[in-house]
Amino acid sequence: MTSLTISNLSKSFKARKRVTVIEDLDLHVMDGEMLVLLGPSGCGKTTALRCISGLEVPDRGAIRFDDTTVFDSDSRVNTPPERRSIGMVFQSYALWPHMTVRKNIEYPLRRRGLRSKIAEGWVEEAARLVDCSALLDRYPAQLSGGQQQRVALARGLVARPDVVLFDEPLSNLDTRLRDSVRSQLHELHRSLGFTGVFVTHDQGEAFALGSRMAIMRSGAIDQIGTPQEVYEHPRTEYVADFIGLTNALDVWRDGDIERMFGVRLSGRALLVEGAAKARVRLRPTDIELSPPGTAAADVCSFPAVVVDMTYGGNRLDVMVDIDGHRLHAQIDAGGAGSWQRDLRTGTAVTGRFDPAAARLYGPDGANIPVPLAEGVPA
Ligand SMILES: Nc1ncnc2c1ncn2[C@@H]1O[C@H](COP(=O)(O)OP(=O)(O)O)[C@@H](O)[C@H]1O
Ligand SMILES: [Mg+2]
Repeated sequence: MTSLTISNLSKSFKARKRVTVIEDLDLHVMDGEMLVLLGPSGCGKTTALRCISGLEVPDRGAIRFDDTTVFDSDSRVNTPPERRSIGMVFQSYALWPHMTVRKNIEYPLRRRGLRSKIAEGWVEEAARLVDCSALLDRYPAQLSGGQQQRVALARGLVARPDVVLFDEPLSNLDTRLRDSVRSQLHELHRSLGFTGVFVTHDQGEAFALGSRMAIMRSGAIDQIGTPQEVYEHPRTEYVADFIGLTNALDVWRDGDIERMFGVRLSGRALLVEGAAKARVRLRPTDIELSPPGTAAADVCSFPAVVVDMTYGGNRLDVMVDIDGHRLHAQIDAGGAGSWQRDLRTGTAVTGRFDPAAARLYGPDGANIPVPLAEGVPA
């Protein structure tokens, strides 16, 4: 069992000009945890994994597995990939097409000089873990996408590496398969207890798999914490947006009242004492819609007009207009005869949300503490 420590890591590439992709990255992955690196495409996730595995040489910084330094720019240590105890699982399964499943899974054992483990049954054991025992003599082209990805998982785990790196391994699977491989991976991690770094741009995967999650933004980490911590207290507006608080609303104080865009926000006050304005972030599921004129004193209410709706079975996605700005509410679809069944483009509604669900950010994108004020604007 191993912890992974990355200190001050930087990596740039020289294309037409030099571009810094990772900048002073610090990251500690605890023994046995699955750390999820979550960030949009291009933010440097793959580059970070390639630096950890030794496939890419960083410009600066250090990487340690427990107390063993595998890379250090100062002391010029750079352990080659095959001598780092790492398993890798990629988005493109990257199986060798000319090799059987058995040979593919064996590959890391051969590469690391662990041939004797083949005779000890490590290949069969890895195949069994991911339900691929029956596939050992097939070729990759004879497997479905889900089977190929399970074989890739077996190959990543077969050498019982200290650290397993996953680079968006579920992205190429269709939704149902993705869910099933995801739960399988979650179980495997729990039973085998390896230290993992799992890269994804999908917040659902991050919440489901992460012991902790780190939200990455252009080569650095904006926030790191347990899924609950990040979900409840996104530290920056960037993080909030990335984890589903997708509605961005400008709220400001106007004399004794508060305004959201141009309209009046009634009921509970939203802005903290002293703050004259804020960017407010809300999840679509935290917004309720009700008939016009149903403002309530214990929540924040505002008038809006329906612009568009899509039916999603048990829920409705409703786009409303507030003074020329769009807000997305995801509401219960309601039963036959319910009010929301009659919503149409142009229907006037009252939007409501609990101020406790709102997250406030300043002009620099940093979180403003949640208001405690019980005050009701006049
Ligand atoms: N070998 C390379 N040469 C030049 N630029 C690269 C190279 N590898 C990655 N990049 C650039 O680095 C940035 C981050 O890439 P990457 O680490 O693949 O991001 P992610 O995995 O988060 O999508 C991108 O802008 C990409 O174009
Ligand atoms: Mg990538």
